Amino acid sequence: MKVVGIEASQVLAGRIAEQLRVEMVDARFSRFPDGEQYLQVGELGDETVVVGSVADSDALVQLLLLIDACEGSEIDLVIPYMGYARQDRRFQRGEPVSARAIARALSPGVRRVFTVNLHKEAILAYFGTTARNLSLAPDIGAYIRGMDTDNPLILAPDRGAAAFAADVAAVGGWDSDYLQKVRISGDEVRMQPVTIDVASRTVVIVDDIISTGGTLATAATKLLEKGARAVHAVCVHGVFAGGAYGRLKSVGIESVAASDTIECGSSLFSAASCIAAGIRGC
Ligand code: R5P
Repeated sequence: MKVVGIEASQVLAGRIAEQLRVEMVDARFSRFPDGEQYLQVGELGDETVVVGSVADSDALVQLLLLIDACEGSEIDLVIPYMGYARQDRRFQRGEPVSARAIARALSPGVRRVFTVNLHKEAILAYFGTTARNLSLAPDIGAYIRGMDTDNPLILAPDRGAAAFAADVAAVGGWDSDYLQKVRISGDEVRMQPVTIDVASRTVVIVDDIISTGGTLATAATKLLEKGARAVHAVCVHGVFAGGAYGRLKSVGIESVAASDTIECGSSLFSAASCIAAGIRGC
């Protein structure tokens, strides 16, 4: 078995290879003069783990090209962050089910698919092959333990993330709860009044994705108004669109951490051991 990653998932791919104690495939990426992408892979093994987060269109094209280049090897595809997953159904007439389109495009030639904290588990059914979703809740719990906060309250910003927050809280035997969110637009949300007693408590808001930061900024503002001692934010996928990191810091969030499913300066813990365990366990 060997591991290969798209350009934007190189570090995570390397960490997965270390965890699995296997070599990485040397893959070189470049472009033709017209801007089209080109890549060339080195020596493959009988089995290849292809790692790539679909964080933008270039990443999607690189994944498609890598899967094709690895033809002849048994391919396990790891999609640490699956972009387009939030359009998981047709909300209005004429719209695509984008999650299905991406899943269908990436399935041919692949033996197994692994995702990480996918927006909705039901999306797995769109892959035309065996697909498994892994959760970083234990890893986030371990990260929070390392923050050395005094008996933190683990809070989900909405009901949809409540079970995830409970899984994170279980790691340290901490309290968990959730807020009630109503989305107004792409980057604006409204929070129902906070009824949870957060006075003098350290609150860690956990979520699957920080995209525009609207959800967490609104939640943190309410919590600080209610007397929380400190608010921290930890998520799986740090998209940080349109200045989201600065937005979060500007409302007084003390620390912002994400995993390396999207590699960035806020990637303060890794999804590698969870992914390697998933690959080994199947
Ligand atoms: C929503 O269902 C997700 O769990 C996240 O809460 C959401 O995607 C975060 O988006 P934003 O950072 O733009 O508020």
